[in-house]
Amino acid sequence: MASLWSGRFEKDMDETVKQFNASIFFDKRMYQEDIDGSIAHATMLGKQGIITQEEAEQIIGGLESIRQDIAQGRIQFTVEDEDIHMGVESRLIARIGDVGKKLHTARSRNDQCQVDARLYLKRQIRQILDSLRTLESIILEKAEKYADEITIGFTHTQHAQPITIGFLFMAYFQMFRRDMERLMDTYRRMDYCPLGSCALAGTAMPIDRFQTAEQLGFAAPTENAMDSVADRDYSLEFLSDAAISMMHISRWAEEFVWWNASEFSYIAIDDSFCTGSSIMPQKKNPDMAELLRGKAGRVYGDLMQLLTVMKGTPLAYDKDFQEDKEGLFDAIDTWKACIDIFAGMLHKTEFRLDQIHQQLDKGFLNATDAADHFAKQGIPFREAHSIVGRMVRACEKKGCDFAGLTEADLQSIDSRITKASLGDISIKACVNTRTSFGGTAPEEVRRQIQAGKQWLDSLASL
Ligand code: ARG
Repeated sequence: MASLWSGRFEKDMDETVKQFNASIFFDKRMYQEDIDGSIAHATMLGKQGIITQEEAEQIIGGLESIRQDIAQGRIQFTVEDEDIHMGVESRLIARIGDVGKKLHTARSRNDQCQVDARLYLKRQIRQILDSLRTLESIILEKAEKYADEITIGFTHTQHAQPITIGFLFMAYFQMFRRDMERLMDTYRRMDYCPLGSCALAGTAMPIDRFQTAEQLGFAAPTENAMDSVADRDYSLEFLSDAAISMMHISRWAEEFVWWNASEFSYIAIDDSFCTGSSIMPQKKNPDMAELLRGKAGRVYGDLMQLLTVMKGTPLAYDKDFQEDKEGLFDAIDTWKACIDIFAGMLHKTEFRLDQIHQQLDKGFLNATDAADHFAKQGIPFREAHSIVGRMVRACEKKGCDFAGLTEADLQSIDSRITKASLGDISIKACVNTRTSFGGTAPEEVRRQIQAGKQWLDSLASL
């Protein structure tokens, strides 16, 4: 079958070249957007008198019937279609005849593929934002539930200071909040319509790009035709957003794997989010958490792939750019699935407080608080730090905690300190007194939860 562009060719394409050249097998997922773009274009051509109103209506009718047929699986695309743009257009011509040949007036596949990709990505971003919104509400619910429950805060994977579980949840809330804000920024920056940029330089036809932009739900048409067909930075921004967010998911997933490890058992992940072993009957493995941790690598790869494809490509369109789609689609699918799976797993995970409580008296979680108490009594903090350091050493020698040190032990470390001057350094007090803005005290965590809720409720849909 001769291609729609084959006028200047004497020979047909080699079969292997056809396969190599075709993007239909992956860009057919943008068929809705391709048809929406063509309908807006035909409507505008009709209104501007570039084609007649009647011709525009015929084209639109044909496109709608093709849409139905694709949706209902009555159209099977093959390599002969080359890409979704040719696939739809050649079927339109087959269906409505010569009038169909007028659709491609004042348009090129170079702008068409960008209209499709931007419309498709905008739709996907809205869905990903919905998924992130659900994840954030689950985090808020859990943060509220565990606002008073104490756990171990780590640095260098060593016991550091006591914190509340709610506080930890709110740390991740902030990360996903920024992921959402980044994605909304990306959306607003890419919300411009390339349609009518044509091959690279615009057109001498009296088109109305403002009308098509409006009909397709864009904020405005893009400013420069050459930029419109050559730029893929909106995809790169999306891929960067996805990579950063996948990094967040991966870090929390790693904490899940860790908390779930036999030696910790801080959490119980629901059976429905675990798998068994084909040989070891007793096993219940945190495979979903591990997969979530691993999937970040794949999305980083998608970002690196497109950055590498785009590097050094001259303006305007180059066929290299056809390589922009598979990685983008993969990142969209992967990121969205990971958010949804993570949200589900989080929702169904319970903390095993009994297990956590057994660990709270290990590792001198209250050491900073002891130093703070001395500092409040006028001992310079650096000296207080050193005194508590020596107390830790004494405890390790005696095999006790701070409470096990006698008055004599304390006096021999520093004459300025007594049991009374240690103050209340119970784990509960350590947490409850950390009321500084952004701190871990339950009342402060509740303020953070309130602020988080307000932000989430105030989000307007895009
Ligand atoms: N399938 C191509 C793509 O996705 C269509 C763009 C135009 N192709 C061309 N040879 N000018 O990039």
